[in-house]
Amino acid sequence: MAHRCGGSVTGLRLKFARPTTSHFHENMKATLTNKEQTPMTSDPITLMKQEVGKAAAARVKSGSVVGLGTGSTTAYAIQFLGDRLAQGEITNIVGIPTSFQAEVLAKKYGIPLTTLDAVDKIDVAIDGADEVDPQKNLIKGGGAAHTREKIVDTLAETFIVVVDQGKLVDRLGSTFLLPVEVLPMAIAPVMRAIQALGGVPELRMGIKKAGPVVTDQGNLVIDVKFASIDDPAGLEKTLNNIPGVLENGLFVNCTDVVLVGEVIDGKPSVREF
Ligand code: 5RP
Repeated sequence: MAHRCGGSVTGLRLKFARPTTSHFHENMKATLTNKEQTPMTSDPITLMKQEVGKAAAARVKSGSVVGLGTGSTTAYAIQFLGDRLAQGEITNIVGIPTSFQAEVLAKKYGIPLTTLDAVDKIDVAIDGADEVDPQKNLIKGGGAAHTREKIVDTLAETFIVVVDQGKLVDRLGSTFLLPVEVLPMAIAPVMRAIQALGGVPELRMGIKKAGPVVTDQGNLVIDVKFASIDDPAGLEKTLNNIPGVLENGLFVNCTDVVLVGEVIDGKPSVREF
């Protein structure tokens, strides 16, 4: 399997631990309805996310190993992938989830799952993003899932990103803070190290949960404001070199296709970027 993004998979210190809570777990309860119910909505934003998800799912071929991303846009891709499987349009696909959310959705929509131990390669990964720059570099981690997302997305032969127009930026870090997953015992020194790099770190707090967001691996997330991210590849490596940092949300040189959803004259449409 090829690792394409800038050098952060090597030396990864994964800590699979206790059951966790993140705001995505909370959001998921709201997202999950009965399998039979395809959400009927006239909300243009929701319709647009559905169209982008559908466009990504349409690119998956029979027999593929599929990386299943995290977030509200990817959730529709997972749903439509399950629909295509159920309708016999495609056969024999297996998914590798990037989060608890993706795993639950895959089970709900009947997508068989596997693990990285059991496959030689991932054919295609579909995932969302919080920012996309003109070089298709990304900030991810709005759902605190960027560590597993980076493992899966960078292993894929084809990495498809599904976003809405509002995620496109000229420069990373201009609208979204940069998420960094940190081992809990290292939170204070990591925050100090990030400050020394010129960043302003903030511990991500839970929504409808007292205390901080805890990732699927049992770790914490620091969201960092940098005045300007001039060298995403360099910053990605520098942050991952701080002892206690597991992974950051910069995804550099790994995106193949960006599908962008737009609402034009009140109607959803999708274009490739
Ligand atoms: C999760 C992510 C998501 O893909 C990202 O936050 C985009 O989510 P959404 O499609 O809900 O806007 O990186 O860690």
